[in-house]
Amino acid sequence: MDKIIVEGGKQLKGAVRISGAKNAVLPVLAATLLTRGRNIIQGVPKVRDVATMIKLLEDLGVEVESYHNEKIILDTSRADNPEAPYDLVSTMRASCLVLGPLLARLGEARVSLPGGCAIGERPIDLHIKGLEAMGAKITLEHGYVQGKADYLKGIKFYFDTVSVTGTANLLMAAVLAEGETILENAAKEPEVVFLADILNLAGAKISGHGTDIIAIEGTTSLKPIECTIFPDRIETGTFMIAAAITQGDVTIENCIPKHVEPISLKLQEAQVGVEISKNKIRVKSKGPISCVNAKTHPYPGFPTDIQAQFMALMTLAQGQSIIVETVFENRFMHVSELKRMGADISLDGHTAIINGVKSLSGAPLMATDLRASASLVLAALAAKGSSIISRVYHIDRGYVGIEKKLSKLGAQIRRIK
Ligand code: UD1
Repeated sequence: MDKIIVEGGKQLKGAVRISGAKNAVLPVLAATLLTRGRNIIQGVPKVRDVATMIKLLEDLGVEVESYHNEKIILDTSRADNPEAPYDLVSTMRASCLVLGPLLARLGEARVSLPGGCAIGERPIDLHIKGLEAMGAKITLEHGYVQGKADYLKGIKFYFDTVSVTGTANLLMAAVLAEGETILENAAKEPEVVFLADILNLAGAKISGHGTDIIAIEGTTSLKPIECTIFPDRIETGTFMIAAAITQGDVTIENCIPKHVEPISLKLQEAQVGVEISKNKIRVKSKGPISCVNAKTHPYPGFPTDIQAQFMALMTLAQGQSIIVETVFENRFMHVSELKRMGADISLDGHTAIINGVKSLSGAPLMATDLRASASLVLAALAAKGSSIISRVYHIDRGYVGIEKKLSKLGAQIRRIK
């Protein structure tokens, strides 16, 4: 298994280019199942979760006509297998995104239940409840969600909890359902808005996306999808924090500043310089980092996917900061590893209390989930001495060549096999 070795203490300087958004491309790939023909998707980030989703689509009968230079052409004409097997779904929860499209396309789906993960139980009860309301008969057998539907009908559905993939799943099912669907308390994440926009380009009739209430007028067929994936806001935020934590000066290119506004504002509050232009952000140290509180919320709130990285920064801030996680029940797996580096953090339920320390020291570290591993890389960049991070397959799920991008900025970081 690969490991990442970081020699801390180098200030990052230069420019970095952000890749396409993982969480945008995954639902778009699933949505190709709603079409029959050649789908052309550009700006596809080369990360492990995307490879898993492509493998899953191939299992379902989708043909990968070509895939190079971030461009994939998928022929969905002959996708007729309704089963998403355990070995793929177990490595990536987002595989459940094929549930709605398969039911809409084949009237049948057999998708392994994702199960728990390092950041909590993460049920898909809302996905299932919504699809049942649309007329699907769903049973749970042998660890699989089995769905059958002669046809899907439009519904009015209220999400008890804002769910990103839940909204995407029901949205995709509703596009080919009979009649109108209204999704209330829907997710407003840019990835959901993008999905709705590209489905509309393919012939869907969706309105209200980007607000709490999305309306979908069902249609009988869609044209194949053609789109370019927008830049990843979590990768953007991670590099912004990398610049801040190393007291560096980094220009983040090919990003959408609007998508990372809460992160920019929090960094400014922490006395880090943030200059924003059209599709670039320059993050420049202005001296010591001030303590700042943060609370995670669905978009446009402070993203839970940046909580761990922001906490790494706060371990080196002057004073005490409080970080509250409201989206997931168990997303503090990085805390014990940061403490092994000398961070002063105590946990009280969903709240982390961080007393800034003067320095962190490099240590052998274990990545536990995707964003937790990013926080460890950031802490290691700022720490004194060297750190060895193992289980980096977690980080490869969502970051394109993170060690290469960081090393171009001057970090002393390398991967060993
Ligand atoms: C997506 C993102 C993930 C991000 C998360 C929150 C993708 C592929 N992944 O995950 O990176 O961290 O949004 O921004 O886009 N919930 C239920 N029942 C459900 C569904 C969700 O109770 O049926 C709860 C979850 O346990 C969690 C909360 O809702 O507490 C939000 O989860 P959700 O938005 O669904 O996360 P994902 O879509 O899995």
